[in-house]
Formats: sequence, C-alpha cells, structure tokens
Amino acid sequence: MNQQQLKQAAAQAALDYIQPCLTSDAIIGVGTGSTADCFIDLLCQEAHRFAGAVASSERTAQRLQAGGVRVLDLNDVDYMPVYVDGADEINPALQMIKGGGGALTREKIVASVAQKFVCIVDASKQVSVLGNFPLPVEVLPMAVRNIKRAFATMGGQSRVREGFVTDNGNLILDVSGLSIEDPLALEQTINQWPGVVTNGIFAIHAAAVALVASEAGVQQIKPIDH
Ligand code: 5RP
Repeated sequence: MNQQQLKQAAAQAALDYIQPCLTSDAIIGVGTGSTADCFIDLLCQEAHRFAGAVASSERTAQRLQAGGVRVLDLNDVDYMPVYVDGADEINPALQMIKGGGGALTREKIVASVAQKFVCIVDASKQVSVLGNFPLPVEVLPMAVRNIKRAFATMGGQSRVREGFVTDNGNLILDVSGLSIEDPLALEQTINQWPGVVTNGIFAIHAAAVALVASEAGVQQIKPIDH
C-alpha cells in the first residue's frame, strides 16, 4: 500500500469508530490536512445521518460544504462528541505535533471542545519522542523576531513559513532542533510568550485514541501513561 492508501485506511477506520456518534443531532469536529481530507470525503457520504460539523480551517469548511455537510460556527455548538484529525507526529502517550498544514490554532480550539480526539495517521507518524518534525508555532507578525530569539535560547532554529498566512491572519514559525522530552511543559511555556497565538504541541489536548494504518492493517492505540 502507498501512503495515500494508508491514509484512506485510517480515515475509513475513523468513520467506523465514530458510527455511534452519527445521530440526527450530532455535531462532528473535523480536522485539516490530507488524511483529514480522506475522512471528510467518507463523512460527506453520511451527511444525512448527523446534524453538521465544525471545521478547523477554511479549507476543511469548503470541502465539507461541497460534500453536502452543514458547517456550524463553534460558538453555536454546546456539545461535540468527537474530533477527527491527522497529526505530523504522535508519541505513545498520544501527544502530537500538529500544524504542518498551518491550521493548528483552530484545530486546537475545536479539539478542546470535543469530548474525544480521534487521531488518524499512517505508521510513519509514530515516534518515541516528539521533535523531529519542526514545531509549527502561530505568531503575531510584530512578535516574530522576539519569539525567534526565545527559541534560539533553547537551541531551536526557527524560520518563517514562506508565503503562508494563517486563516487568522498570522504567520507560522517552523522550529527545528528542539528536544521535546516534556511536551506538556513545553506546550505551556511557549504559549505564555507574548505574541504566540498557539504552538503545535498537542499535549494538553492529546488524542484519546489513535487509528494507525500500516501494511498490517489499522491498529487502535490507547495512550500509554506519561
Ligand atoms: C494541519 C495538521 C495536519 O493534521 C497535519 O499536518 C497532518 O497532515 P497530513 O494528514 O496531510 O499528513 O496539523 O495543520
């Protein structure tokens, strides 16, 4: 199987997993990226079975609407049973690096509202320690230089993502060279720096379950204590 087929397998497993959530009043949280796109295409085929979705990006909102799914503003939603999204890296505690597609802030907001984060990945995204994938950080433009300096003191090299503006009108710094031994602590530290909107460590809102596709099939993984 190629990587696209693995993404499709993970997406199909997610649709199977959320079957009990697909009720007439249910609102589903939907992520962003190529794996999430596979899930969206399957979810759209079931559009008649649930009330609507909250999208984690403009791109996802457009794809859902094109597929016949009603897209709601998060402020109009009280309860969301599940959020389904991909990741750039995931560790055994199901903490993740996300934001390769630049949608990390809205992804984190929607994930924080959902009862359960279901992460869909192919096995290449599994790591024992996060940090090989450069950490995306959404920043207000005027703070870029100062935040770059702050990462440098930790041994991180940061680059502004070229030609990219987030859905919220901000920039993305991609930071390499960080050792993320304690994802929870680092997520909290970076988020306190003035000008950081959010960073791509998802440890406070780690996944509840990961559906990991490999040649052997799709494995359902629960978090190991960290
Ligand atoms: C977007 C994300 C994506 O979930 C992450 O980048 C994985 O993307 P893909 O499924 O295309 O590999 O966080 O901001």
